[in-house]
Amino acid sequence: MWPIDCIAHKRDGRTLAPQEIRRFIQEYTAGQIADYQAAAWLMAVYLQGMNAEETTVLTDAMARSGDRVDLSSIPGIKVDKHSTGGIADTTTLIVAPLVAAAGVPVAKMSGRGLGFTGGTADKLEAIPGFHVELPEQRFLEQVRRIGLALITQSGEIAPADKQLYALRDATGTVESIPLIASSIMSKKIASGADAIVLDVKYGDGAFMKTKERALSLARTMVAIGKLAGKQTRAVVTSMEAPLGTAIGNSLEVDEAVEALSGTGGRRLMEVVEVIGAHMLIAGGKAADEGQGRQIIRSLIASRQGLKKFRECVQAQGGDTSWIGRRPLTKAPQVFTAVCTDTGYITAIHGRALGEIAMAMGAGRRRKGDTIDPMVGIRLFKELYDPIRAGEPLFTIYGKADAPMMDMAQAAADQIIVTPYQAAVMEPVVSECIV
Ligand code: URA
Ligand code: CA
Repeated sequence: MWPIDCIAHKRDGRTLAPQEIRRFIQEYTAGQIADYQAAAWLMAVYLQGMNAEETTVLTDAMARSGDRVDLSSIPGIKVDKHSTGGIADTTTLIVAPLVAAAGVPVAKMSGRGLGFTGGTADKLEAIPGFHVELPEQRFLEQVRRIGLALITQSGEIAPADKQLYALRDATGTVESIPLIASSIMSKKIASGADAIVLDVKYGDGAFMKTKERALSLARTMVAIGKLAGKQTRAVVTSMEAPLGTAIGNSLEVDEAVEALSGTGGRRLMEVVEVIGAHMLIAGGKAADEGQGRQIIRSLIASRQGLKKFRECVQAQGGDTSWIGRRPLTKAPQVFTAVCTDTGYITAIHGRALGEIAMAMGAGRRRKGDTIDPMVGIRLFKELYDPIRAGEPLFTIYGKADAPMMDMAQAAADQIIVTPYQAAVMEPVVSECIV
């Protein structure tokens, strides 16, 4: 009996036939399979797993469930980038203009933030006048003309994933590698790029809590991408601490402009160089990671990346008068906390800082909540940095009625200073899978 047999097959640990998976996704998206049946099926997949072929078929079926973006009118190898979501992760805003400046077209569709992680589209909307929603023809024309456009998802990309994700969220079936991998890759494949570079995060502020799980997710996504005929590379990076130093939308745009001007932080720039290098390799502009990193550094030094960022902001209607002149962030209340101890920063709890910033109005608790683009937290130090008593630790930017002292105390509790260096210093980039 359909679809009960399909649920039972997976429940019993059998490999599903491609036509079973395709039919299940088609009929669920069409409303012909009930949520309770799809929920049971998801739980069976969660418990029994899926092999590479099943996961690829699932991905392809979800990618075909809605609109597919056609980038073929843009000459060259179009390279997309995706991060599994982090705190103070403004990599896209830095790397997209750098890679575009190197001649690789970047037609980037980004999401909005939910919960404690930020979304690139929300960050860009902190720039007065910036349009993140462009009609498809204008989007394509802009990429052909300047090599870069940064927009929100247009149309209905992978509606099957949207429906299944909501169901997973309500049934304890989010943390499954085949389900996460197919969810992410279905959207990337439907978005039309020729090559995909993935930043797969692990740690306190990430979906995957351990490096081993992140590696496994990265390998699964690279395998799916290749079976789908797209050059796919993945970099596994640590989210044990915030990547950059800015948490909050306009603050993250400010950090991106600083990074493009040559003053980006150590951890953030490490990820920018590695992701940028792999995008350049995928786009045929670098032979290896070393050369790719060198090109990224030179495009920062020559301000070509910053120039490309400005061009993109201008093309999408945004104010460019502040770029390179003053910070974008202007909040009604500003408070800087100083460190009371001398020693080393041995932990920064990024997820908790993300939640504090969200409570201040920087993020959405629920889909559709409005956000305040100018509030958030800016750190002066990174993980493992030395610090002296009396040095500034962070600045918080709040709304007019924000309880600044409470917020500052809560944020200070998330930054651990000890008299000695951490025994083990974890690198931010641990592995690249190609
Ligand atoms: N991001 C996605 O898009 N899907 C998942 O399942 C998890 C993270
Ligand atoms: Ca992010």
